[in-house]
Amino acid sequence: MHRLNNKRILLGITGGIAAYKSAELVRHIRKAGADVHVVMTPAACEFITPLTLQALSGNPVHTTMLDPKAEAGMGHIELARWADVVLIAPASADFIARMAAGMGNDLLSTICLATKAPIYLAPAMNQGMWLDSATQKNCTTVMERGIKLFGPDEGYQACGDIGPGRMLDPDVILGCLVKYLESGLLAGKKVVITAGPTKEAIDPVRYISNHSSGKMGFALASAAAEAGATVTLIAGPVHLPTPDRVARVNVVTARDMHAAALEHTEGCDLFIGCAAVSDYRPESIAEAKIKKDPNNPEQALELKLVRNPDVLASVAAKDDRPFMVGFAAETHQVIEYAQNKLKHKNLDLIVANDVSDTTIGFNSDENAVTLVGPDFEEPLPKCSKWQLAGQLIDLIARYYNDIQQSSVQVQTQVQPSVTTEYSTDENTDHAPENPHS
Ligand code: PMT
Repeated sequence: MHRLNNKRILLGITGGIAAYKSAELVRHIRKAGADVHVVMTPAACEFITPLTLQALSGNPVHTTMLDPKAEAGMGHIELARWADVVLIAPASADFIARMAAGMGNDLLSTICLATKAPIYLAPAMNQGMWLDSATQKNCTTVMERGIKLFGPDEGYQACGDIGPGRMLDPDVILGCLVKYLESGLLAGKKVVITAGPTKEAIDPVRYISNHSSGKMGFALASAAAEAGATVTLIAGPVHLPTPDRVARVNVVTARDMHAAALEHTEGCDLFIGCAAVSDYRPESIAEAKIKKDPNNPEQALELKLVRNPDVLASVAAKDDRPFMVGFAAETHQVIEYAQNKLKHKNLDLIVANDVSDTTIGFNSDENAVTLVGPDFEEPLPKCSKWQLAGQLIDLIARYYNDIQQSSVQVQTQVQPSVTTEYSTDENTDHAPENPHS
């Protein structure tokens, strides 16, 4: 099952005999649909060769920070930004200590400092080293920063000891990862998302449209499915594969999208309008191709355009209106216009997207937005649309759940605890946290 579809996993491998299990882990992660870049510490390269990991991951393996060639390609900051998740398996006692101290003395530790992605550690070491109070304190320190620990397991160790410190089996690590990436914040909710452009025919061969690629909306659909929602994606004409566990409805025109949105929002809990819907369409569509007059190079073509229905406003006007989230693509006075749309379209939240910057917004792989509510603005800095979608769904879902429960704001602070993911402690809080809060 592709439960990590489109996820970008940066797998860090540190020095320890369990490094041989990382090869299997890479296979599991790829099988789950994710893209993997492996970063190895020098000590890790003593236990397993980068070539093995390169062959299994299908990507170059990163081993050093001071390689000008590597930095010119995908340097440590690019890797830190690229990752949706940083998973370090095995995480040695030394590496955990360096993380606790905030050191950045090799490629992997600098990535950990620079990344905004959640970080998960699968510790692996001798049982005495694991139980040592210094290691325990270091684990507590990193966990207080929101870093999660998967394991360690107990049992026979390569050194002959028996006790805690074994790295979890690769399939168990994968299960932990999937569990965290699938937050469950929208479990049981029905979510409808619009994405992509619409096309408005002028004649049988010409149309009016825009530059929307659908990437942002498709990433949102995937993130909502990962958060446990049943997702219907109403997609304009784009060439993107349907995200895993998402039901897709293809449409072409704004009126098609309008009809599909009204039909599929029966019993819908949350609606997100990310599509770039054509505001206008030609009043009539010519039945045959409109021909130019070869003798008149100055000939102008006049098109009368009429307004299309507003998909978002129509869904928001329904009696059984879902929680409504719109987008506002603006080139200037971005927040002000977004706030106006929030009110005029009767929305709960709006995502303000400054599309004057051509490196974000339409048809780019990255985006930067501000989530605007009735009384708050939350800027989300530039990152991949997949990463941003995860952040947006997380924030939207928390806000939505707060409204539903009419309770105090969801507590996202990490509770200091030495209880690790693999613990059987029933009280462990598995709600996803902002790792950098
Ligand atoms: O698809 P990508 O290439 O990944 O690009 C993403 C994006 C730039 C398209 C996306 O991030 C975005 O900003 N989407 C909104 C685009 C837009 O048309 O914005 P708007 O400000 O014109 O419309 C405001 C809101 O009303 C939007 O939620 C839009 O979906 C909705 N709308 C607009 C017109 C209309 N007739 N019906 C609508 O529902």
